[in-house]
Amino acid sequence: MTKKPLIISTDPGIDDAVAITIALFAQELDVKLIAATWGNVTLEKTLQNALKLETFLQTKIPVVAGATRPLLRAAIDASSVHGKSGMAGYDFPEADESLLLPGLAASAIHEVVAKSSTKVTLMQIGPATDFALYFRQYPDDLAKIEELVIMGGAIGRGNWGPYSEYNVAGDPEAAQIVFDGGVPIKVAPLELGHQAFITQETLQKIKVLGKTGDMLYHILTNLHDETESDGREIYDALAAGMLLNPKMYTFKPAYIVVDTKSPHAYGASIMDFNNFFGKPANAQVGVKVDQKVFSDWIIQAIKQAN
Ligand code: RIB
Ligand code: CA
Repeated sequence: MTKKPLIISTDPGIDDAVAITIALFAQELDVKLIAATWGNVTLEKTLQNALKLETFLQTKIPVVAGATRPLLRAAIDASSVHGKSGMAGYDFPEADESLLLPGLAASAIHEVVAKSSTKVTLMQIGPATDFALYFRQYPDDLAKIEELVIMGGAIGRGNWGPYSEYNVAGDPEAAQIVFDGGVPIKVAPLELGHQAFITQETLQKIKVLGKTGDMLYHILTNLHDETESDGREIYDALAAGMLLNPKMYTFKPAYIVVDTKSPHAYGASIMDFNNFFGKPANAQVGVKVDQKVFSDWIIQAIKQAN
């Protein structure tokens, strides 16, 4: 099977750690680069978390630093959800700094795409800042992007504002640049996380999946998120699922535009499924996933990661 070359832009982040772990051990994927960006916590911490996670997993994928803050707005913070470190709940080993590439995300992403003999897939599970910078600096690369899978946005209610989801609200202008980029996009909105919540029973199954399952269990039980369900909502893992098992989802085409102007809905992802704006769809949005199918899938995916 030809492995899909993948670049991950991420703000680890507890749910990021689950998605990154699944991607690193998936037979179908060839992770080429992990670009840590500001997001749940500062870049300094997300970068360390990406390095520490790989050191724990004993993987050797290059890690590069991305942006320290959004393009325009002030940075926001989700340490109340992910802990002060951004990946609370487990005593990770010291980071293997040899994995750290010099330079910054956009040029490192360009190097991977330029060298690749096949199209490259992108997964964005944090704010869009770095992929927006990459799209602006290397527009000729975009023809070599297979697809971009994004965890972000909400069809309805947000988790950072009444209508704003954290990743899109974190850098609304960057999110708009990415949605306008013209590359094929799949979106995992908040609603998929609400539908595919992880029960205590599934958490206990994860716990006994070797050293990695034990680590993921301990960080997941330290994820203090206000959820709509009575389980854990591992949003970023829904994006990883789109890469590895898209048939789990029902997708609907939508034209997505980000509110970058209004004081109360700044960062809202307006998802037009009914052609109200008369604009062609720029994304396939995951609108439905079965909770048991997803839970069974995530168990199998984590089983690979040992
Ligand atoms: O709104 C959920 C998203 O915001 C997830 O990617 C989580 O890690 C935070 O970055
Ligand atoms: Ca994230």
